[in-house]
Amino acid sequence: MELFRTKSVENIGADASGEGESHGVGHLRRHLSARHLVGFGIGIVIGTGIFTLTGVAARDTAGPAVVISFAIAGVVALLAALCYAELASSVPTAGSAYSYAYATAGELIAWIIGWDLFLEFALGAAVVARGWSGYVGNLLDLPTSLFGEETTVNVGAALIVVVLTAVAALGIRESARVTNVLVIVKVAVCVFVIVAGAWFIRGANLTPFIPPGRPSEGAGGWDQPLISAVAGLEPAVFGIGGVLTAAAVVFFAYTGFEAVANLSEETKRPARDLPLGLLGTLGLATALYIGVSFVLVGMVDTPDIDPGAPIADAFDQVGLGWASALVSIAAVAGLTSVILVDLVTMTRIGFAMGRDGLLPQSVAKVSPRTGTPVRMTLLFAAVVLVMASLVPLEELANLVSIGTLFAFVLVSAAVPVLRRTRPDLPRPFRVPFSPVVPILSAVACVYLMANLSIETWVRFLVWLVIGLVLYAVYGYRHSRVGAADAAVSRTDR
Ligand code: ALA
Repeated sequence: MELFRTKSVENIGADASGEGESHGVGHLRRHLSARHLVGFGIGIVIGTGIFTLTGVAARDTAGPAVVISFAIAGVVALLAALCYAELASSVPTAGSAYSYAYATAGELIAWIIGWDLFLEFALGAAVVARGWSGYVGNLLDLPTSLFGEETTVNVGAALIVVVLTAVAALGIRESARVTNVLVIVKVAVCVFVIVAGAWFIRGANLTPFIPPGRPSEGAGGWDQPLISAVAGLEPAVFGIGGVLTAAAVVFFAYTGFEAVANLSEETKRPARDLPLGLLGTLGLATALYIGVSFVLVGMVDTPDIDPGAPIADAFDQVGLGWASALVSIAAVAGLTSVILVDLVTMTRIGFAMGRDGLLPQSVAKVSPRTGTPVRMTLLFAAVVLVMASLVPLEELANLVSIGTLFAFVLVSAAVPVLRRTRPDLPRPFRVPFSPVVPILSAVACVYLMANLSIETWVRFLVWLVIGLVLYAVYGYRHSRVGAADAAVSRTDR
């Protein structure tokens, strides 16, 4: 049963409030408002997903109906965001999903979630750093031996991780400033794409909107969605099935909004601003994604979409070369802020886990000078640096998605559980129609997970097993909750 020991909401709150004991790690500083939170949210959300994945999903899986895939993925993300908003406003802590799980399902599940979120943000940063390197290399015509996918050591990816680690370590205000500038650039360009691209939409490109389904070539064995293998269905592309599969793929574009909840301890008015930050981020991202993807499939016949840089190429195809360069610059700005917010978020989760003793406390310490967990930032960034510079990361976006969806399932489940176990808890934001909405959210996330490939599932399970070994070796023995429970049972005896 010790594996399922829980941390009380009061203890989580006391740790996070900044007024109580610091448990050897110190406190984060409250500098952020709702506007900053939406900035961070958009900073991490809009990136590779819309600038790259849209093309592949439209061309190979959904056709023009990729717009519907974006809408479906947006609704699933919105359901999860409602659950996050309730938990983040009632239990505002840097650990977010990790801490909610600690309060409801117990330490083991909490550890698994923390480890899973590390996968999401660390791998996300590494994947995007490699994408960044490719885009910058292309834009500035730099040697592919240093900036391309075929490098042994990807110098471009390493460079951007080092620079952004310095910004992340410097302070949350500095990170917010840099993020805001990058966000303004990418949002402005998304709006530009929608307005300028709308003039080039041709009805013929949009028909048929949902191309007839057909069996997918070459997708068998490990490549096929888990759901096809389990249900014995032949993997298909296009048609309704293709739209749903594409929804699972483009879901990646929405991942990251929950990072807003990890900034709870740095938010000035968490009860009001966290729901605004979470739902504001998602609302804006969904509107932009639907607009941009509609314009893309309207501008270019789907078989002619470029899989690498679909939006920039669409403007090239209609003869607006300058607009294409603008889109590439926005993509680089977009990718930069995704990496920065990934780095910031990852360390906040590590900080919360260190404070609980599940990771070494000495590493989680907040530097009195910068107000950030500098050692944790450097340690995690080193891991990202190695992955980004050495590991070829194609396909790993799906691993980020599965990790995120898994966290969403547990967060959705935590809402009704906490309502039952702690009905007295003040809830500044309440999910409407609970438990229906949280259950719908969990089911939808599981469904999207089932649409990811068997290969992704196997990699994910391997990652979780590595995490369990680490927990057995370190976290279980050093847990602060475990130590407190042991002290109580000693006095009882
Ligand atoms: N949602 C982020 C992106 O699309 C991770 O790049």
